[in-house]
Amino acid sequence: MTVVAVDGLHEIIQRIESREARIGIVGMGYVGLPLALLFSEERFAITGFDIDAHKVGTLNRGGSYIVRIPGADIQAAQKNGFQATADYTRIGEMDVVIICVPTPLNEHHEPDLSFITETVKAMAPHLRQGQLIILESTTYPGTTEEVVVPLLEQGNPSGLRVARDAASPGFYVAFSPEREDPGNDTVARRDIPKVVGGCGPVAQDLASAVYATIFNRTIQVSSPAAAEMTKLLENIYRCVNIALVNELKQLCMRMGIDIWEVIDAAKTKPFGFHVFYPGPGLGGHCIPIDPFYLSWKAKEFDFRTRFIELAGEINADMPYFVVENVMEAMSQRGKALRGARVLVLGLAYKRDIDDLRESPSLTIIELLQQRGALVEYNDPFFASVGQGRKYALNMSSTPLERVPDFDCVVIVTDHSQYDYPKIVENSKLVVDTRNATKGIVATNIVRC
Ligand SMILES: NC(=O)c1ccc[n+]([C@@H]2O[C@H](COP(=O)([O-])OP(=O)(O)OC[C@H]3O[C@@H](n4cnc5c(N)ncnc54)[C@H](O)[C@@H]3O)[C@@H](O)[C@H]2O)c1
Repeated sequence: MTVVAVDGLHEIIQRIESREARIGIVGMGYVGLPLALLFSEERFAITGFDIDAHKVGTLNRGGSYIVRIPGADIQAAQKNGFQATADYTRIGEMDVVIICVPTPLNEHHEPDLSFITETVKAMAPHLRQGQLIILESTTYPGTTEEVVVPLLEQGNPSGLRVARDAASPGFYVAFSPEREDPGNDTVARRDIPKVVGGCGPVAQDLASAVYATIFNRTIQVSSPAAAEMTKLLENIYRCVNIALVNELKQLCMRMGIDIWEVIDAAKTKPFGFHVFYPGPGLGGHCIPIDPFYLSWKAKEFDFRTRFIELAGEINADMPYFVVENVMEAMSQRGKALRGARVLVLGLAYKRDIDDLRESPSLTIIELLQQRGALVEYNDPFFASVGQGRKYALNMSSTPLERVPDFDCVVIVTDHSQYDYPKIVENSKLVVDTRNATKGIVATNIVRC
C-alpha cells in the first residue's frame, strides 16, 4: 500500500511539472473560468465542470458570458485542450479537481453550503487513488475538514479515505482561497500570492506545486482551517474599515466637513494608514456575505463577533442613508420624492464590472420605488434586467440622452465610461454617492 501511495505521488508531481496533469475546475463562474484560463495559458488541458447547460454550451462554442473575458480567450484555451462539461463521471479522469462554486447566505442570513455539498456528493463516487481535491470557495473555518472530507469519504464506493501522509493510500484534500478582485487590473493575477492549507503535508505540497505553475508565490499555512480563516480575515478587514469610513462620512456631513478631502489628505501618510472609501453600501459575492460565515461559526464557540455585526449594520444602512439624502436634496428644491422621476446610474455593485450580486443599487431602487418615485436605471453592462435571486426589476437601461427628463440622477456606481461633467450639465439634480463628480463645481450636485 505504502509503495502505491508514494509512487502515485511521484507520478502526480511529474505530471504537474510536465503540464500533463489533467485539471478539472468545478464552477465556471467569475472565479472558476479565469482560473481555468490561467492554467490553460500554462498549457494544461482544463476541463470545466458546471451544472449550467447554457454556460457549458457557450464555452464549448468558444464564447464567453463574462464581459471582461473575450471569446478569443476561450478559443485560445480550447487550442490547449479546454472543454466544458456537466458530466461528473469525468471527475475520475482528473488528477486535480478545484472547486469554485458559490457560497451564499440563506434567507436567515446563515451560510448556505448546499452548492459545496451538492458538488462534493456528485464527485465522491468518481474519486480515485492519488487525486488532489482543492476547495477554493470562501467559507468558514472547518468546512474542508468537517464537511468536504466526510462527504468525499462517505460517498466513495471503494472506501477511499483522505491521505494525510505519503504512507497512506487515498486522495488528497486542501483549501486555497480565491483572492481575485474583479475589475482591478493594478495587480496581475500571477502576482497575487496563493495561500494553501492542506489536510496533511503531502496535500499541502501537492496543492502548492499545482498553484506554483500559475502563481509567482504560494504561502503555506498549517491547515485548511488556517487558510479558510485567512480569507475571512482579509474580507472582514475590508468590511469593518468600509463601515468605519461610512460612519465617518455621515459625521463629516453633519459637521460640514468634506470626507473625500479628509481621505485624500490622510492617505498621503506613508505608514499606518490604508485607504478605504465610503459608498452607497456593500455589494458583490464576498464582502457583504463572508463576514457572516464567521459570525455563524463563532456561535458554536459561544463567541459573539461584535465588530463584524456592527460593521454589517452600518454598511447595511447605507442605501437608506442615500435615499434619505435624495429625499432631502429634492425637498430643498421644493420637490417631493413621491411621483418624481429618478435615474439611478450604475447597477453593478462596483465600477466597470458586470456583476449585480448584492448590489446596493438594487436596494436603493427598491427603497425609492417604495417611497413613490418613478425609477429608471442606466448601466452600460446591463441592457436589461429581469428576475434575479432577490429582485425583479424587469427594466431596460435608459439612454443617457434622456438625463434631462429626470428630477434627480443618483450616481450609485461610478463606471469609468460615464461623462460626469456632461451628466451634471444636463441634470436638474445629481446625488453622487461615489465622489464621481470630484472637481466639478456646480450647485446641482449633492455628494453623500
Ligand atoms: N467573484 C469574486 O470576485 C470572488 C472572489 C473571491 C472569492 N470568491 C468565492 O469564490 C466562490 C465562487 O464565486 P463565483 O463568483 O465564481 O460564483 P459564480 O456564481 O460566478 O460561479 C459559480 C459557478 O458554479 C456553478 N455551480 C453551482 N453549483 C454547481 C455544481 N453543483 N456543480 C458544478 N457547478 C456548479 C454555477 O453554475 C456557476 O457557474 C464563492 O465561494 C465566492 O465567495 C468569489
